[in-house]
Amino acid sequence: MVSVAHRLLRTKPAEQIVAEGGHGEGGELRRTMTLWQLTLFSVGATLGTGIFVILGQAVPKAGPAVVAAFVMAAITALFSALSYAELAGTIPVAGSSYSYAYATMGELVAWVCGWCLMLEYAVSVAAVAVGWGEYLNHFLEDLFNRRLPDALTHSPGHQGGVINLTAILIVLLATWLLLRGASESAAANAVFVLIKIAVLLFFCAVAFTAFQAGNLTPFAPMGAAGVTAAASQVFFSYIGFDAASTAGEEARNPRRDLPLAIILSLVIVTVVYVMVALAAVGAMPWQQFNPHTTEASLALIADRATAATWPGVVISFGAVVAIASVVLTVLYGQTRILFAMSRDGLIPEIFERVNPRRQVPVANTLIVALFVSVLAGFIPLGQLAEATSIGTLFAFAIVNAGVLVLRRTQPGLPRSFKTPFFPVTPILGVVFCFVVMLGLAGVTWLAFAAWMAVGLAAYFLYGFRHSRLNRSVR
Ligand code: ALA
Repeated sequence: MVSVAHRLLRTKPAEQIVAEGGHGEGGELRRTMTLWQLTLFSVGATLGTGIFVILGQAVPKAGPAVVAAFVMAAITALFSALSYAELAGTIPVAGSSYSYAYATMGELVAWVCGWCLMLEYAVSVAAVAVGWGEYLNHFLEDLFNRRLPDALTHSPGHQGGVINLTAILIVLLATWLLLRGASESAAANAVFVLIKIAVLLFFCAVAFTAFQAGNLTPFAPMGAAGVTAAASQVFFSYIGFDAASTAGEEARNPRRDLPLAIILSLVIVTVVYVMVALAAVGAMPWQQFNPHTTEASLALIADRATAATWPGVVISFGAVVAIASVVLTVLYGQTRILFAMSRDGLIPEIFERVNPRRQVPVANTLIVALFVSVLAGFIPLGQLAEATSIGTLFAFAIVNAGVLVLRRTQPGLPRSFKTPFFPVTPILGVVFCFVVMLGLAGVTWLAFAAWMAVGLAAYFLYGFRHSRLNRSVR
């Protein structure tokens, strides 16, 4: 009994994790990514469905105060981003928060964290891919007056869907890019990100021409509760700022660049979100936002503001590109986290095999792509955004706690970035994560509990027995 508890709580020394970085069976990852690419990588993973779709759905909850909800969600993300920055600079490896948890709170917590990250990465990317077809259809409809058949753009049982082929298509395109190499993927992502930011700035410019201060009063018709509920919902739009931390083994100068990239990307997306939200509620009375629409409220606002249809086309195009880059970067992140978990023996070793010529984990990428394609092609994932948020918030809480633990257990470890106002910031980080989690629906909590139960079963059936820490008696 004692030995089981010991095994569940054993940690993997930070120095050992760092020393193993870059290597997998059969080859090494290639260090090519610059600060600029890492920052755009995180922005790429972050800026997507949240601002294009969820903004419109959150407005009825908070009214014009949806702007405050975006700020509140950003503050929640900021505390965690500082903790991510500290740990990414200290332990710059592919596993991100999974590896940080392994170094600080032991194997069981690390596993739980890695399992939560699958919600943040694999499951969320499937949900995002599902929405991509809608935008593609919008775009095609606006431009050519043509739509792809419903049978091929929706999941079975939904609006006449048979298979969501568009979702599978975007996953396969992203996979193809990832197999070409990390640096090629980062270059493509940089172009995507610049396009999506340009399109959102274009939206702001158009919407501000129709801005009416009267639309902003009363500012918070649903009170503080409305703002908190909206903040929980829009938190989804900040998920992904941590994606750069999964590139720890492919960054040129990870200790310096990872913390910077994480914080810079959060600052960039926050500025863009607050501007877009303000422009949106200033241009259209909040009562006219429909909480059930999955369609682009931004395109609608732009069309109305100009009494033309071409701005909507530009925005649909921006959304198509935005979501493509989320799929690309988040898929990448998932493969690298699995790479780290496999190197520790907690999942089968096929995930750590690196193709020596391409220097990417090819088998790993193909398995992830297959899993995500099946999920995205056949399962309706409408409600999934909240489920991914809860898993992510849990992982963020673990990262904040990790900073507290590591400062105590290894105060002398070299840290390229230290979170300011320690220990207040990581403590607030944990508190904020739980506050936002409490704002999520009961059914989301149930789904999360079921997900964790499956994860724990998987750990005890496989990871517990195959952990590489079993080889060394510690
Ligand atoms: N933050 C990502 C998005 O909004 C998940 O699409």
